[in-house]
Amino acid sequence: MTSSPGLSPGTPILLTGGAGFIGSHLAERLVGAGTRVTILDDLNDAYSARLKRENLRQVSEQGSFDFLQVDIANTDELQSALSGKTYEILIHLAARTGVRSSLAQPLLYERVNLQGTLGLLELARRGMCRRFILGSSSSVYGRTSRAPFSEEENRLDPLSPYGVTKLAGEKLCYCFAHLYGLEVTCLRFFSVYGPRQRPDLVIHKFARAIEDNCPVTLFGDGSSRRDYTYVDDIVDGITAALPLTGRFEVFNLASGNPIPLKRMVHLLEKALGKPARLRMQETHSADMPFTHADLGKAAAVLGYAPKVPFEEGLARFAAWFRGTPRTAG
Ligand SMILES: NC(=O)c1ccc[n+]([C@@H]2O[C@H](COP(=O)([O-])OP(=O)(O)OC[C@H]3O[C@@H](n4cnc5c(N)ncnc54)[C@H](O)[C@@H]3O)[C@@H](O)[C@H]2O)c1
Repeated sequence: MTSSPGLSPGTPILLTGGAGFIGSHLAERLVGAGTRVTILDDLNDAYSARLKRENLRQVSEQGSFDFLQVDIANTDELQSALSGKTYEILIHLAARTGVRSSLAQPLLYERVNLQGTLGLLELARRGMCRRFILGSSSSVYGRTSRAPFSEEENRLDPLSPYGVTKLAGEKLCYCFAHLYGLEVTCLRFFSVYGPRQRPDLVIHKFARAIEDNCPVTLFGDGSSRRDYTYVDDIVDGITAALPLTGRFEVFNLASGNPIPLKRMVHLLEKALGKPARLRMQETHSADMPFTHADLGKAAAVLGYAPKVPFEEGLARFAAWFRGTPRTAG
């Protein structure tokens, strides 16, 4: 692997999913650094499109960018929107997200996360760009993976259709790197949280329940652990990967510090200044008992070093949550 400029002013970057939670934070960073960003997003209603438009408005405070409202799973629409365009880097974050809802809509997840990714890889290998970064997930690991989860782990048995589509996306990337010489980096994000977090994700969902005096449903006995990662640390990891060249690499991006579910709720109660009413339910077979990343490779190659401790990140999340009008959820 060698390095070349990535976050330099003027670099043309195509960012899919840039109206979403992680994508909009990344877009703010990229636009603020003066790169030429094109955001591609279909603004679908998996959660409120109004929230996604508000995310884009916040990005625009950093500077200008182009926007393409396109469904990546619609091959014709995708090809005509990107026909003749070239970019230095494609950062692909658009996806149908969430473990549980992938059980209800597996075909939709397959269409967007596989067909959509394949459509972009096809455009890339036909000359749109050589450098491809995929937003992957800790969900590619399964119950059989040994902790801390290493990129070297061969036993990958995802527990949900979502996890399978993410792993298959990585495999498609590998194949296109091998066949056509694309330079691909897959970044496995672990339980990302922070301001503008998706409303379906656990910290945001629990905060809403606490605020509304509704019960907070905990699956299992509360001892399951998640490697929660503050969104700015994820953005640091993605931007550190921009200059990498080389055929195919996979990196974990996480905090490396798993937090038990019950402790997370306790710290969230503290951050919001309000107690939670707990309701316990049996654990679900799609849920991982724990996630815990080995960050050795990301540290060594990307210089990745997560900076935001969980309590600090929760305080920033709570400040954002408190300042967000309740109608916005
Ligand atoms: N948030 C996390 O904890 C987490 C963890 C692991 C991996 N990831 C991955 O990171 C990426 C971003 O996740 P997020 O939490 O910001 O989710 P998000 O839903 O907020 O963002 C995804 C964006 O992609 C767009 N999109 C979805 N389907 C599309 C389509 N067919 N065409 C065009 N755009 C489409 C959505 O409108 C949305 O704006 C995803 O690839 C996700 O799988 C997220």
